[in-house]
Amino acid sequence: MSENSSAIQSVLHETRTFPPSEEFSKHAIISSEEQYEQMWNRAKDDPAGFWGDIAQTELDWFKMYDSVMDGKMPNTKWFTGGKINVSYNCLDRHLTTWRKNKAAIIWEGETGEVRTFTYQQLHHEVCKFASVLDKLGVEAGDRVTLYMPMIPELAIAMLACARVGATHSIIFGGFSADAIADRNHDAQSKLVITADGGWRRGKEVPLKVNVDASMEKSPSVEKVIVVRRTGGDVNMQDGRDYWWHDLMEDAVADRECTHLDSEHPLFILYTSGSTGKPKGVLHTTAGYLLGTTMTSRWVFDLKAEDTYWCTADIGWITGHSYIVYGPLSNGATTMMYEGAPNWPDEGRFWEMIERHKVNIFYTAPTAIRAFIKWGDQWPEQHDLSSLRLLGTVGEPINPEAWMWYHKMIGAERCPIVDTWWQTETGGIMISPLPGVTATKPGSCTKPLPGVVPAIVTEKGEPLGPNEGGLLVMTQPWPHMLRTLYGDHERFVETYFAKFDGKYYFAGDGARKDEDGYYWVMGRVDDVLNVSGHRLSTMEIESALVSHESVAEAAVVGFPHDLKGEGICCFVIPKGEVASGDAAVAAQKELIAHVRNQIGAIATPDQIRFTSALPKTRSGKIMRRLLRDIAAGRESAGDTTTLEDYSVLAKLRDTDE
Ligand code: WT7
Repeated sequence: MSENSSAIQSVLHETRTFPPSEEFSKHAIISSEEQYEQMWNRAKDDPAGFWGDIAQTELDWFKMYDSVMDGKMPNTKWFTGGKINVSYNCLDRHLTTWRKNKAAIIWEGETGEVRTFTYQQLHHEVCKFASVLDKLGVEAGDRVTLYMPMIPELAIAMLACARVGATHSIIFGGFSADAIADRNHDAQSKLVITADGGWRRGKEVPLKVNVDASMEKSPSVEKVIVVRRTGGDVNMQDGRDYWWHDLMEDAVADRECTHLDSEHPLFILYTSGSTGKPKGVLHTTAGYLLGTTMTSRWVFDLKAEDTYWCTADIGWITGHSYIVYGPLSNGATTMMYEGAPNWPDEGRFWEMIERHKVNIFYTAPTAIRAFIKWGDQWPEQHDLSSLRLLGTVGEPINPEAWMWYHKMIGAERCPIVDTWWQTETGGIMISPLPGVTATKPGSCTKPLPGVVPAIVTEKGEPLGPNEGGLLVMTQPWPHMLRTLYGDHERFVETYFAKFDGKYYFAGDGARKDEDGYYWVMGRVDDVLNVSGHRLSTMEIESALVSHESVAEAAVVGFPHDLKGEGICCFVIPKGEVASGDAAVAAQKELIAHVRNQIGAIATPDQIRFTSALPKTRSGKIMRRLLRDIAAGRESAGDTTTLEDYSVLAKLRDTDE
């Protein structure tokens, strides 16, 4: 652990518990403690037997695999020898059942239009687009970048890539041209799929403009496909850019699924680490599909008659696993919404739940905090009685927000599943089972079957009940990441080196209470969790120092009412430290610069100019001290390694 977090002290002592109602348990897919324990113990003692049995009954294979798992962590391979296709499992296999004419996706645009795709209709579109990919020369193993708004074409493009075996790399629409170029280049993408723009709070997000600006630094990209969404003016370059609707016009819907190896790369998703460029987390085919299929069913108690809505953006892992792949593999009905929760007003989500009669609702603590701030009058105006289950993901939820969600949205009737997982884990790892687990506000409760976590010290020694430490996974699971794209060494180093390859560690601190419930306390590395999404302090620092006026920068997080963590930047300018209007202008300029370099998601909340930063004698910035200053706290910890004491006093003076 870094110098700042050598002791994780838990201050949360929550004692309320909320068992599921008898009625809920009676109808739940996993319905008793005994059933859960039996599954969990079998998966722990005989993972190959447990996952093998499910893989045979729950997935459709072109060729059955030879062995369930080969090799130790970190290099475990799953279902080797098998041939399978994710698109087949999400679409084709439902067409021979009554689900053929069931809604697969119900999509709503920010501007209010609704488009519904049955499994048959979605299959038709995906087959057509898969043949478009063929025609453009995209082959199995090629990488394709998707930089798109939340429209059905995004899901269609994903499933078409999976169908032909192209590996998709989705970039969240809030990222800038530079971020697109970095990712295009790292993945060596051949094709980019985008749209003219997307709607967000009534404004047009200029997606094609950003793609155009990224092209100069994306030499691997040969072609760009553009969906017409907003109808705004775009520049189309001859021989490079194609309209989606033109290509689809004469495409034939007869594209069968390519038979792919179980370990064929399904997608790359870039996520922030504490050092270096973004990490291209790679997920493969069969294991990821099995994991997302089963966790969707177990955690959301997903049934054929449910209307299920996950409010995440597909640009994040939550959208990949729990809007598209998991729900569709189960033959469920998944809702997809294009826009903002406060457009045209703060009642949008509740109005949509009422109108679509949503049964299962999955959102993030940062959204819940915004709902609380906007006021009870918004949900109160709507009939939310269709809801039967609520979920959260992205960061620890504070018990007060949990209680509000429970009372105001769930009417004290709906179980809440607080789901802990990561981009790297591919699917939910620790979560209540809604028909089984008595929940405690703020705890993600217990590991799912197949997940065997532990809380250990820096040296890997197990800790006792309520002792805070590092959260690790002691066994491999089918949906774990396989590598960091193009850098297997970094993969081993980042997640496994700390404990000599024995455990998977991705940076969270946690404790386990006397009932075996996990309480995640957040990240222990230099990664911020802003609105439930990981941002690397290092990348924001690089963006700052790339500005001509900046000599050095240090970025830390501070508690933020809505975002969870806000971004505070300490900046040493090249010249004199400005004050007054000049300082305000310089702050504005740097904020715009960071947005431009990384995207709106990384917008700094505070820029503080300083002439020095607190450093250890070895030159390491003491982030713990900066965090205290950013949060307006006195520094309680040890400062004996600080090189220049006067720096602290000076920094405090920069406090607004
Ligand atoms: C990090 C992973 C998983 C999809 C969204 C974020 C934090 C996530 C919880 C939770 C406490 C949580 C962790 C984790 N986190 N869910 N239920 N309780 N913390 O994916 O960007 O890969 O971030 O989010 O710190 O390591 P991600």
